[in-house]
Amino acid sequence: MDFEVSSWFQSVLGFLFFALTTSFFVASIMVFVLRLKPCCKCETCQTFLTSSWLRKFSNLCDWYSHLLQNSSTGTIHVHVLGNIITANPENVEYILKTRFQNYPKGKHFSAILGDLLGRGIFNVDDDLWKFQRKMATLELGSLSVRSYAFDIVSSEIRCRLIPLLSSVAGKDNGVLDLQDVLRRFSFDSICRFSFGLDPGCLNLSLPISKFAEAFDLASKLSAERAITATPFVWKLKRFFGFGTEKQLKEAIKLVDVLAMEVIKHKRDMGSNQEDLLSRFMSTVDDDKFLRDIVISFLLAGRDTVASALTTFFWLLSSHPDCLENIRGESDRVMGRTQDLPNFEQLKKMPYLQAAVHESMRLYPPVQFDSKFCQENDILPDGTFVAKGTRVTYHPYAMGRNERIWGSDCLEFKPERWLQNGVFKQANPFKYPVFQAGPRVCLGKEMALVEMKCVALSLIRKFDFHMATPSQQPKFMPGLTATVRGGLQVLIQERGSQP
Ligand code: HEM
Repeated sequence: MDFEVSSWFQSVLGFLFFALTTSFFVASIMVFVLRLKPCCKCETCQTFLTSSWLRKFSNLCDWYSHLLQNSSTGTIHVHVLGNIITANPENVEYILKTRFQNYPKGKHFSAILGDLLGRGIFNVDDDLWKFQRKMATLELGSLSVRSYAFDIVSSEIRCRLIPLLSSVAGKDNGVLDLQDVLRRFSFDSICRFSFGLDPGCLNLSLPISKFAEAFDLASKLSAERAITATPFVWKLKRFFGFGTEKQLKEAIKLVDVLAMEVIKHKRDMGSNQEDLLSRFMSTVDDDKFLRDIVISFLLAGRDTVASALTTFFWLLSSHPDCLENIRGESDRVMGRTQDLPNFEQLKKMPYLQAAVHESMRLYPPVQFDSKFCQENDILPDGTFVAKGTRVTYHPYAMGRNERIWGSDCLEFKPERWLQNGVFKQANPFKYPVFQAGPRVCLGKEMALVEMKCVALSLIRKFDFHMATPSQQPKFMPGLTATVRGGLQVLIQERGSQP
């Protein structure tokens, strides 16, 4: 009898627990859905929901650029996404600097990227962020680290990149996917710099390393979480472990195993080395935390540089005058025979600096970036921001905004960055390609040196022609912009017959 009562009691408890959990779940979904105004009838939301923007624009960023250009405040609200998007420099300064504390990455962002990035610098706020920021600033800012990075990049260009392109250029039909080559190049460089280990991806006869492949898939699937209008769908898929969430889990598992191997290997080698990981290992004991740090730096330094270089070469292929200006400037500074520039020579090439900045104005590697509002607020343009709203600043749309860059904003004109032949830095809140304010990119200088070094070495030695010249780069959703289908180029040694 006792047994029957207790089992009856257990069933009731079980039922109550189930009913409570289900109601809580349904209520959460309802609150979430109601906050997003799923039935919003405004034109922007309807165009978004019906995907009718696709009739005029080939990618979402171009549609947003159009809306932001036509908005009197430079700000729009996509109610169904709970997302305020701005291309107004005053708002950007307010979010990234003036009211920095009110616009953290927040829990939503951490949830989206948490499985891949863990507690790495990109994914945290407050003390965890401050600690990594301080450590990384000391390391990335020091002259010795910069020259260490410069040596790695130079040796990667001289010993691998140039020989590889020369071997392709010597063939009858010297076509290769330049984006793939640049991604392999930047993966090798960032791994050598961050971990002191060489994955050797630039050897095209080798399959791309398992680490790079798993990392690519994990970043792509994580980014896709961020663009769904209904986050509970991916959360549900993750809970039940199916579809893309299953794939993501497997990719992250592989990334984890390989990252842990890197850490173990470093421990075995002793920590008296110059790379970034060795420096972090001298202060951090927790292997899981080290893994997160490793992954964040990989993400920061790999795809961004590859993306920026890919679009730079694409733009140069249709701007031969600009290409000749870069060659002329470098001949004056380096002479005609020197293959790679040195650190000092790079500083004497304002046109190259201008061209690289101009390319990222039109094609920023990080096309948009979001924060989450902590407390109700009003932006400088009068937009009300409710607590919990996602606020996005949009470097891609800002680069194409007439109010910021004038009526010729869609043209590629490096000259706009020069005043009497001297490079003039833009206000970082008008050009937040590297973000701005307290969380400004820590690798900016390193990235610019790397890009200029690669661009110059290749431009001076080779001619590039797009294998499909009219094709505009089409970007895939991802944490950084990637050209769909790669960038097929015909490559020839300069001076040789086409
Ligand atoms: C063209 C190349 C690059 C671009 C356009 C770029 C852009 C950015 C952007 C937009 C952010 C802010 C991201 C966010 O908070 O969500 C960022 C942060 C960061 N970047 Fe870069 N980046 C580049 C290269 C690099 C390189 C080569 C490194 C280092 C090896 C690096 C290290 C970092 C770090 C550590 C942060 C985090 C800063 C923080 O949260 O305090 N970046 N970068």
